[in-house]
Amino acid sequence: MVFYSFLTTRSLSLSSAMASKIKHVTVIGSGLMGSGIAQVAAQTGHTVTMVDVDVVAVDKAQKRIENSVQRVAKKKYGDEEEASKFISDTLGRITTSVDAVTAVGSTDLVVEAIVENLEVKKKLFSELDKAAPSHTMFASNTSSLPIAKIAEATSRKDRFGGLHFFNPVPVMKLLEVVRIPETSQATMDAMTAWGAALGKITVQCKDTPGFIVNYLLVPYLLSAIRLIERGDATMEDIDTAMKLGASYPMGPFELLDFIGLDTMKLVNKAWSTDYPEEQAFQMVPTLVKLVEEGKLGRKSGEGFYRYRK
Ligand code: CAA
Ligand code: NAD
Repeated sequence: MVFYSFLTTRSLSLSSAMASKIKHVTVIGSGLMGSGIAQVAAQTGHTVTMVDVDVVAVDKAQKRIENSVQRVAKKKYGDEEEASKFISDTLGRITTSVDAVTAVGSTDLVVEAIVENLEVKKKLFSELDKAAPSHTMFASNTSSLPIAKIAEATSRKDRFGGLHFFNPVPVMKLLEVVRIPETSQATMDAMTAWGAALGKITVQCKDTPGFIVNYLLVPYLLSAIRLIERGDATMEDIDTAMKLGASYPMGPFELLDFIGLDTMKLVNKAWSTDYPEEQAFQMVPTLVKLVEEGKLGRKSGEGFYRYRK
């Protein structure tokens, strides 16, 4: 036991030293996830550049971060002066940009949280690879795509990994750290320690479909939709059942709307194409229909449920 705690303390201090090398973080994509990642990094003392191709998305992200930091500050500090310092310090550490290539010119870590599309992610990383300093580590927050396929676009596979955060990032405690065969131990250590520096509990996983959580969660969510497609139960009753019968904080339809039906459809499409023999990943028509109707979930005001603007 003594030996174990010595090792733990030693590896923690080594990891902390490596994480402390990550001072400036560039987050690409300022949607639901990118804004949350930028926020928690800034809250924990890192300077952050948050990048998006869409200026409207950047504006929305800034408002989302302001609201969220206020909620965090209210919970963290009783004292109003301390709370307002925390808010202004956090917001003061975030700058924004619409030019990813320039933004990575001087950065320690890039966390990508753009649309769930392999070719778009590869194109982005191949451009960033040429522009970022050699020490810069790259990570993708993809929900479902193979990290190895994204990393192929770069010449730094040893400094490439998956950093899979959960929505809402300021609240969810977990961070999955994903390695590809080429990821160096130093990169794994630095990414894991950085996660701890953000206040997250980290788990490590190989580059398997959906890593740990989504491998289990995605088939569950798709199965819930199949239940309503077959007319076996209503979505309201399914949500009530899972909240009261399994103590989940949200039912599957509330969670699908919360994640975003566009993202879920892209996950469903990629997995049903890549694993045609896997029944659990088969395409779900209702998801396609809702996305075609512009019903993307909470972010668009309507998905399975309707939301007040
Ligand atoms: N920013 C800051 N704080 C927030 C917040 C935000 N965006 N949202 C909620 N909070 C805080 C609130 O301040 C509140 O704190 P206190 O209770 O200490 O006051 C607490 O979180 C609870 O918030 P609410 O009372 O507003 O709402 P709630 O109790 O219904 O909880 C929830 C909201 C945290 C989202 C909860 O419903 C929940 O955990 N839902 C499940 C979320 C989930 O499963 N996420 C994973 C999705 S899958 C994924 O992310 C992976 C993928 O690849 C798709
Ligand atoms: P989102 O639609 O809310 O945001 C994506 C943002 O990326 C948009 O603002 C878009 O303008 C921007 N973007 C698209 N292409 C870009 C490019 N080439 N360069 C810069 N910005 C670009 O999506 P999200 O829900 O934040 O998901 C982002 C990523 O995180 C996806 O890979 C998704 O699978 C993953 N993820 C999502 C969740 C979730 O619950 N929504 C959870 C974990 C991981």
